[in-house]
Amino acid sequence: MFRTHTCGQLRLENKNETVTLAGWVQTVRKFGSITFVDLRDRYGITQLLFAESLNASLEANPLGREYVLQVSGTVNERSNKNTNIPTGEIELAVSSFTILNKSAVPPFTIQDDTDGGDDLRMKYRYLDLRRNAVKKNLELRYAVGRSTRNYLHENNFMDIETPFLIKSTPEGARDFVVPSRMNAGQFYALPQSPQTFKQLLMVSGYDRYYQIVKCFRDEDLRADRQPEFTQIDCEMCFVEQEDILQTFEGLVKRIFKDVKGIEYTEKVERMTWENAMWTYGNDKPDIRFEIKLCNLKFPSHTFPDRKDISSLVSGTGFNVFDDAESVIAIAAPGCSEYTRKQTDELTEWVKRPQVGMKGLVFIKCNIDGTYKSSVDKFYNTERLKAIADAANAKAGDLILIVAGPEERTRKAASDLRMYMGTTLGLRKADDYKLLWVLDFPLFEYAEEENRWVARHHPFTSPKPDDIGNMINNNPVIENAAEYLKHPYANIKANAYDMVLNGNEIGGGSIRIYQKELQEKMFAALGMDAREQQHKFGFLLGAFEYGAPPHGGIAFGFDRLCSILGGSESIRDFIAFPKNNSGRDVMIDAPSTIDEKQFEELQIKLNLHS
Ligand code: AMO
Repeated sequence: MFRTHTCGQLRLENKNETVTLAGWVQTVRKFGSITFVDLRDRYGITQLLFAESLNASLEANPLGREYVLQVSGTVNERSNKNTNIPTGEIELAVSSFTILNKSAVPPFTIQDDTDGGDDLRMKYRYLDLRRNAVKKNLELRYAVGRSTRNYLHENNFMDIETPFLIKSTPEGARDFVVPSRMNAGQFYALPQSPQTFKQLLMVSGYDRYYQIVKCFRDEDLRADRQPEFTQIDCEMCFVEQEDILQTFEGLVKRIFKDVKGIEYTEKVERMTWENAMWTYGNDKPDIRFEIKLCNLKFPSHTFPDRKDISSLVSGTGFNVFDDAESVIAIAAPGCSEYTRKQTDELTEWVKRPQVGMKGLVFIKCNIDGTYKSSVDKFYNTERLKAIADAANAKAGDLILIVAGPEERTRKAASDLRMYMGTTLGLRKADDYKLLWVLDFPLFEYAEEENRWVARHHPFTSPKPDDIGNMINNNPVIENAAEYLKHPYANIKANAYDMVLNGNEIGGGSIRIYQKELQEKMFAALGMDAREQQHKFGFLLGAFEYGAPPHGGIAFGFDRLCSILGGSESIRDFIAFPKNNSGRDVMIDAPSTIDEKQFEELQIKLNLHS
């Protein structure tokens, strides 16, 4: 037998047993005539004791870090016990050993606090993966996957694979394309998601489908995005939105229980998209903390049903508010005693290009009931009190107000809210709050392309009352700033996102299943009949053969794992991730290909420099 136990297995009960272990040398420490070695494998670390009698063999076969060893010997009770590791009460008194393989000196130390920077660890990812911290993340990922499969299996979902070499599926990113040798001049696209296939499976009658599946999107990368990432992709037929919400909050609760030991018994909150934007300035709000936006001024077409309280911040001669499209306040609890230095820092923070505000107005709601503001010249106590009441500020709070163009100001207020939440320690790592955001807009205006695009994807159904507003031929908006006034801006979709602690972990919709409505949707996006047939003829065809009502959702698997693992970066939860330029620096991809491959593909490179 190669090994009788793993390096994490032996305990005091094994005392005096003769065992064989195999693993990697973590450290070698010489104490006079004896040598201690920590031997590591996936399961843990066991201390080995090489007595004086082995010195000659050790001299002939010196051990180095990361050497691969097989050792046999007897389990001894340690005199100097280490309570930090499970095997800390024993050590293995080695009687014989074999060096199975040598190792070059690793480029960084393989331990929890490594000396390796990000780039180095990515280049030698196979060594980085030996580290405990990374291993724990992959174990968590495996546990999330197992829990998911169990839950979905118990609920009658069937795992069905769908192809990777396909035709473009529009999910809002660019496609990765693969040239076809057998069909010269033609290309496959890698799926941005299995969206159309899972819908076809519903037409085929597989009423509950799932797949833990790779998706490929050529988009700008961030900490929570990778060019290839994994989704828990699901679809159901003969369901209403409510069935889907119930089924999948059940899935996430099950994952919490199995992976984190958390019983999530509270009701999962729900909020319309409009309410999320109004209250938090964001469609994925972190609802772990109370701070809410106070919309002192806003363009009426953006929130037509909301009360206008702009008189509070108008007509005082303070141009910043008088001339602004939007004025939004938040009340930071208990911050009224912020010093000049602290408020200056906040002002600098909102002035950064990422936030893009010109400045910040403060109102201190003093404990004694008085107010002190940076606009005292223009605002009397009465007004300040009225604003404080509107912002729900209490004595001891500090009101922060941003003003400017609607979209930028709303985003800035949202960013500032998150920043204050973090600064004030209100976003607690071990607190998990789930939220459904519902009733998203069907369309959004892509300013760079000057056209309307589907906000989720073009297979998402509109709210029945809004279908009448879907006009053909994707109207171009002459002045991009005016697009919010267009009827398309107010069409709502049967679409929902699941949000966890301010992160979008999943999104889905009830689909269009009638051919005519699907054609209307394509037309609304500016696709003529020819283009519809060329791109989606297969789907329109399938809808002629008894397509059932259906809907689904996909969760970002990597993202869910990173949140449960308490990390900002999904890379930490992917065995072999890409860096921020989309490169795998370990295998050096992407790379050029041989001339011969170009010939076979009948492709000539003509790079525009
Ligand atoms: P969507 O595009 O919203 O929906 O994607 C679903 C979830 O996948 C995650 N995600 C990503 N994770 C890492 N890197 C990326 N580049 C990335 N892009 C998205 C997010 C997101 O919530 N077909 C639809 C689902 C459906 O309608 O059923 C879809 O793909 O967590």
